[in-house]
Amino acid sequence: MAVTVPASTWRALARRLADELDDDGDLHTPQWRDALLAVPQHEFVPRYYAPEPDARPLRWVMHEPQGAESTQRWLDLVYSPTTLITALADYVDRGVQAPVSSATKPDLVIRMLEALKVTEGMRVLEIGTGTGYNAALLAHRLGSRRVCSVDIDPQLVSEARHRLARLGYTPTVVTADGADGLAEHAPFDRIIATCAVFAVPGAWIEQLRPGGLALVHVEGPLGAGNLLALRRAAAPVLQGRFLPWWGCFMRRRATAGATVGSPRPARTAEPPVTRHTALDPAELDGGRHFPFLAQLYLPPGMFRSVSTGDEHVAVTQLRAPDGSWCEVSREPDATGRHTVREAGPTPLWANVETAWRRWRQLGAPAWREFGLTVTATAHQVWLRDPHHGPCWALPTPEAPARP
Ligand SMILES: C[S@@+](CC[C@H](N)C(=O)[O-])C[C@H]1O[C@@H](n2cnc3c(N)ncnc32)[C@H](O)[C@@H]1O
Repeated sequence: MAVTVPASTWRALARRLADELDDDGDLHTPQWRDALLAVPQHEFVPRYYAPEPDARPLRWVMHEPQGAESTQRWLDLVYSPTTLITALADYVDRGVQAPVSSATKPDLVIRMLEALKVTEGMRVLEIGTGTGYNAALLAHRLGSRRVCSVDIDPQLVSEARHRLARLGYTPTVVTADGADGLAEHAPFDRIIATCAVFAVPGAWIEQLRPGGLALVHVEGPLGAGNLLALRRAAAPVLQGRFLPWWGCFMRRRATAGATVGSPRPARTAEPPVTRHTALDPAELDGGRHFPFLAQLYLPPGMFRSVSTGDEHVAVTQLRAPDGSWCEVSREPDATGRHTVREAGPTPLWANVETAWRRWRQLGAPAWREFGLTVTATAHQVWLRDPHHGPCWALPTPEAPARP
């Protein structure tokens, strides 16, 4: 049941949030502050899902404001730097549900909008409408007719369109696979993607005006990635650097509704070889700088897990689509080394070790030092300088890595 929140209540919360974002250095632009104060964020998050504490397997519980206490808790959460899960779908191959949409935490929403560098009169395409909140902020700032938003999920689109209209915003909101952009409304001055991709779709390059900017979260085969601000050249080429801070997004899905987990390639039947490594597999945890470089030395379609391996000890496991696999013990032995068991045609752990040596040699670079150039046929990652720095092919599903 929808609850009515007095304007004085949510406006005070929106002001508190804006002040917090201001203090934290996330919010700089007066127009975005105005939008934050004008758009009632709670209207876009009438309910959210949270994991049931201690439930195994994981179970999600829906939370809707009901009494005074739960309404206050809901409002405090919505107007705070918290991501809230807003839609679930069945994981067909796992027998559980998984999040497929969320209300992005407002500090990230605002940092992205700041990084998008919009000015009045620009036309923006958002990929991933979700709740519709980001589209509302854009429509407030630029005017509804300059904003288009697409989501693959028809129910999300219908709900978002409804919420937006109730508040007087009428951007173009379409059910479509964002990978195709929105050709009938192109060209755009800005594209902002709020779902992560393995490769920047060609349609985004084509539909962005020369000089335009795309803000996109790009990840590699281990799922390590970050947001990039990519500028379109006169030719159909995008180039830019990763943002200095890290922001994470749900991966683009190919269909609405039920979803499938990352494919888990079968392991080759050949017996594994055992050896030792000085490289701690924990270096691959977390999806940040080193894992980003490491995956440039691995093939696309990788599967990675931390689990109990064949020898009943905790291991990091990597598998590749060609059947190659390795398991590296999480705990070191008495000499400080980790046990590696590996098989198959691609020397996966040796490639990670090569990446580690390169990483140290390059001075453990930070996000801002990495950039990407995207053409219709290639994704090239570079360090520090697009023309003279070291570079690697991003192993996209279409273009495997060549270590
Ligand atoms: C983090 S949510 C977006 C949050 C949203 N911008 C907001 O303001 O609430 C990611 C969204 O990307 C959408 N998405 C996933 N795959 C997509 C695709 N192929 N095309 C368009 N949208 C997609 C999901 O359905 C989900 O709603």
